[in-house]
Amino acid sequence: MNAILYEEAYEMSQYFLHGGDYNPEQWLKYPEILKQDIAYMKEVKANTFSVGIFSWSALEPAEGKFCFDWLDEIMDTIDAIGGKVILATPSGARPAWLAQQYPEVLRTNQAREKCLYGARHNHCLTSPVYREKVRLINEKLALRYGKHPALLMWHISNEYGGDCHCKLCQEAFRVWLKQKYGTLEELNHAWWNSFWSHTITDWSQIESPSRLGDQLVHGLNLDWRRFVSDQTIDFFENEIAVLRKYTPNVAITTNMMAESYDLAPFRGLNYGKFAQFVDVISWDCYPAWHNDWETTAQLACKVGFINDLYRSLKKQPFLIMECTPSAVNWHEVNRTKRPGMHLLSSMQLIAHGSDSVLYFQWRQSRGASEKFHGAVVGHDGRQNNRVFQEVKQVGESLQKIKEIKGLNKYSRVAIIYDWENDWALEDVQGFSKQGKQYVKTLQQHYQIFWQKDIPVDVITCEQPIDEYDLVIVGMLYMMSEAFMEKLTEYVTQGGTVVMTYLSGIVDKHDLVYLGGWHKSLQQLFGIDVIEIDTLYPKQTNSIIMDSMQYEVKDICSVIQNNSAEILAYYENDFYAQTAAVTRNHFEKGKAYFLGARTHHDFLEIFYSQLIDSLKLTSSWVEKPHPDVSIQTRESDTMMYYFVMNFSHEERWLTITESGKDLLTQEECHKQLRLSPYQVRVVSVKK
Ligand code: GLA
Ligand code: ZN
Repeated sequence: MNAILYEEAYEMSQYFLHGGDYNPEQWLKYPEILKQDIAYMKEVKANTFSVGIFSWSALEPAEGKFCFDWLDEIMDTIDAIGGKVILATPSGARPAWLAQQYPEVLRTNQAREKCLYGARHNHCLTSPVYREKVRLINEKLALRYGKHPALLMWHISNEYGGDCHCKLCQEAFRVWLKQKYGTLEELNHAWWNSFWSHTITDWSQIESPSRLGDQLVHGLNLDWRRFVSDQTIDFFENEIAVLRKYTPNVAITTNMMAESYDLAPFRGLNYGKFAQFVDVISWDCYPAWHNDWETTAQLACKVGFINDLYRSLKKQPFLIMECTPSAVNWHEVNRTKRPGMHLLSSMQLIAHGSDSVLYFQWRQSRGASEKFHGAVVGHDGRQNNRVFQEVKQVGESLQKIKEIKGLNKYSRVAIIYDWENDWALEDVQGFSKQGKQYVKTLQQHYQIFWQKDIPVDVITCEQPIDEYDLVIVGMLYMMSEAFMEKLTEYVTQGGTVVMTYLSGIVDKHDLVYLGGWHKSLQQLFGIDVIEIDTLYPKQTNSIIMDSMQYEVKDICSVIQNNSAEILAYYENDFYAQTAAVTRNHFEKGKAYFLGARTHHDFLEIFYSQLIDSLKLTSSWVEKPHPDVSIQTRESDTMMYYFVMNFSHEERWLTITESGKDLLTQEECHKQLRLSPYQVRVVSVKK
């Protein structure tokens, strides 16, 4: 179903989507502004607008009194210019009258304080009243606009997130737990409740985690996060039921997010699970370009990682629902994109599989908290300024490469990222507070491949792995036995797996596996992990591989080698001369174990050998440059190379096959020159 809807949505638009969040309801008293918007939309080649995201009070100013005139006009006007609308359901923020009339719709926080009306996303996920009110307005929208020629897709709510601890939610949580565990005995065992005398004797004793109560029962914390995810999906399902009923052929998306500007995956919801319920993945990407703590290339690599994760959720092109043409207003420092960065960063999103560059926001608000957030049209209302012109350049560029729209990416390498593991690691009391760094570790491994222009899928534990030549399992502390079996089968069939320290320690209840490292991992890797040594930030050890010395830090596994080859051994401490990195030939495949956290230098050498032996190198460029990223999208007959210079200097590359730069129309042979921040999109016949 999902794939078909995705196709249908895209048949309607034979082009990349360009445009973004449009809030005409803020400008209804300014008719000349609305007129100007339309003229400007055409000028920057914008074709798609997300409308209605926070429009509930404009759509239903009083209970049961609906007002669609303004939206009718916007839908018709956008249609008249050949544009499309991603129409939002307005549940992300509610009108004051609704909260006043039905206080149960507002959230209760973890300290059991009832929230006042205000902010957005401040709704109870369980409240029957809120669900019904949302269903009603969604029904009105579906009936009124379901057949409108401008309707492209549904945008459900906005950036779902957060939790509610009200009585209704507590009750729903208990029902969810009853379904999961059946008996209190099972629950008490899973949460290890005999510890600190926590045994529960009645379901009504269960309360969600709170700073006033329990925050250290890891099983409870985990289940609460799982419940919040499920409850959010359930809320979403309630939202879409009526849309599916009246508009079964209109695709549905909801915009996902990342953690702040460091681009770790958003931890509030299990998007791996949520992805199965949407037709198209979309997300909001706000890197802190030009910051003062990392290079542009380092940040670009993180942008690559998270886009590869969100693309891999459905292994199909996705949408960037929001990004900024200039700056945001909520980073610590809101630096604007330097000249050229907007085109480069937009093309990077396309290179990783996005079929859109949509902005927050079309026009800067005049008042309230986001008035200084970047927009296509600023307060000056001019089209001859730099930002507007750079947006126009992106619009034109997207048209030049339109044949790439809808094409996929293919990777032979997978890195596993798992939401539940992230939650469990965040909670774990032990090892070191600052030293765990799950996502940072995955980004560090990803970086090796990014710098060598080798495409990577970032997938969850639930996704198939048999199609890959290499699977990297970093810090998968919480690992189900089912996943161990999957890995074993994968290696049996000839796959190569690299696993790191702190993997395979607890089961899905966060209960530690007993009897040493799990037997099936011992068998697969030919080793046992017998101790884990945590180092203070300034302490190090070193390992020797092929007579070369590498520093290791933070975490060192003490390994008992049973049947593996030792590739590197420790130099110091009580485990000096014992295995630090191992390789086990298992059936037709190989299983590597990295026992300690290394720096980039070691990973570079280690993975280079693997990349050579698995022949993963991209052959189009003779010598990849670490701050020039190349990503591909391909059709049956064509390869499209996005060549992106994330350095501040000119770069030269030697290419092995000629092609044509679709952006400049230049023929490209042998030597490819890139000026600082330049991006080329080179098409090459297969
Ligand atoms: C989020 C929201 C938008 C807006 C932007 C600002 O992505 O969805 O409504 O607040 O952040 O960057
Ligand atoms: Zn609630």
